[in-house]
Amino acid sequence: MKLIDRPIWQALTVHHQQVDHLHLRQIFADDPLRGERLSSQGADLFLDYSKQRITDETLGLLMRLARECGLSEHIEGMFNGDKINATEQRAVLHVALRATPDERITVDGVDVIPQVQAVLNHMADFSDAIRSGARRGHTGQPIRNIINIGIGGSDLGPEMAYEALRHYSRRDMIFRFISNVDGTDFEEMTHDLNPEETLFIVCSKSFTTLETLTNAHAARAWSLRTLRDKRSVQRHFVAVSTNAEGVAEFGIDPANMFAFWDWVGGRYSMESAVGLSTMLAVGPARFRAMLAGFHAMDLHFRNTPFERNLPVLMGLLAVWNNNFLGAHTVAVLPYDYYLKRFPAYLQQLTMESNGKHVTLDGERVGTQTGPIYWGEPGTNGQHSFYQLIHQGTRLVPCDFIGFSQQLNPLGYQHDMLMANLFAQSEALAFGKTIAQAQAEGSSPALAAHRSFEGNRPSNTILAERLTPETLGQLVALYEHSVFTQGVIWGIDSFDQWGVELGKALAQRITPELESHDEPELTHDSSTNALIRRYRRTRTSQ
Ligand code: F6P
Repeated sequence: MKLIDRPIWQALTVHHQQVDHLHLRQIFADDPLRGERLSSQGADLFLDYSKQRITDETLGLLMRLARECGLSEHIEGMFNGDKINATEQRAVLHVALRATPDERITVDGVDVIPQVQAVLNHMADFSDAIRSGARRGHTGQPIRNIINIGIGGSDLGPEMAYEALRHYSRRDMIFRFISNVDGTDFEEMTHDLNPEETLFIVCSKSFTTLETLTNAHAARAWSLRTLRDKRSVQRHFVAVSTNAEGVAEFGIDPANMFAFWDWVGGRYSMESAVGLSTMLAVGPARFRAMLAGFHAMDLHFRNTPFERNLPVLMGLLAVWNNNFLGAHTVAVLPYDYYLKRFPAYLQQLTMESNGKHVTLDGERVGTQTGPIYWGEPGTNGQHSFYQLIHQGTRLVPCDFIGFSQQLNPLGYQHDMLMANLFAQSEALAFGKTIAQAQAEGSSPALAAHRSFEGNRPSNTILAERLTPETLGQLVALYEHSVFTQGVIWGIDSFDQWGVELGKALAQRITPELESHDEPELTHDSSTNALIRRYRRTRTSQ
């Protein structure tokens, strides 16, 4: 039966009509303990979801929805290696990447844990050799610059993790990330570096991605212009991929390839060999600590009753906000500057996973699926887009993320930072009435402008400190929340067919832009005209 026709969905619809008029002011006034009651701890993360627009009955219905959609069975299916990525007939086992060495997880009857551990050991040996200077560049110079070339999951995770863990990274080394096929990206990331000291990690699950291979070829040419010896490629290029043949064809020795597997989705791969740049930055021990953080959240997700299960709670609340309160977006607002790339990372994780309009059976879902994720670190966002969140006409649920302990003590600035986080969620929930604005001195004409409706929902996620462990927990929290939402909607959260059409069309258009003779264009009239205009005005090569 279609999700929207199920009795539980209809019960939620009726319930929403009954509670929609309730204001968080009233809900909190009626239950003085709500702020403590509606919170939960998972590993080192604390979630306060009391400022969501829900009642106990809402929660009960959402839990019933999860049970009726078979969430427990789906969780077990994932952890057991079932081929839950049905449209690609693949298991989905990022959880195996962070399992402990003594676990046994099989895909097609083969235990994958020994392979995972072997690659981790290979990465650790390589990282130690580069970091200690034992492995040097072609001319004997130590490697000081690491450039990861990749895109999507082969870029966003590593870059986010490097920025997030920068505090723990080698400060005498430079880490950069090239993703865009726009030559500006390559130029700006390389122009001040010495090829003799530079190692490129060509990171691509498929090793066929146009942007990555184009940049990898540009990097090889850039490197060889100085090093002038093809053998130098073996000292300055390594690959991360599932495609050994493609890697060899590019000219990278398979001994310099770090493998992963088709059961790791690109956007779920930052703790696989795709995280080689992270390991080079923070060292093998801290990388393993990050894996332990992921694993702690995996165990929490698998073993904790739904009522206290952070990813389940966050996933169900996201469904409630999206499908019943009608919110189209979610703002992710980390109050930690090290997490400045976290919203960008989450965009791929959430939107490539749940941006689907058909169910696993190929039927239209019948309701909205993945919301739009976006965000910026606080407090910067407060001085740009928060105005709309506070007083605009749209409902924008927010996830606030903060840490009790600062990594860079600077006077009382951390208290100020956290005061802003707490103030924002309080202001969003409770607002300020017109009467309050007038009592504070606003003229009747201005009081409407200076009042805040409030009743705007948010989660607050707190941990004591941003560490490799807590970063792993945070990422796993969102991964499993995305999975929970996908299970409710009955979609495949692990394929990404939606990226294919644009790729195919670009391949058709590229020769039309490059050809010397006027090509015969058979696109629509808009695309034809744009191509002609570009051809008239492009820089000749
Ligand atoms: O085009 C989308 C995508 O396939 C992502 O899912 C993936 O993370 C990215 O491209 C990069 O793919 P690859 O690692 O194979 O180069």
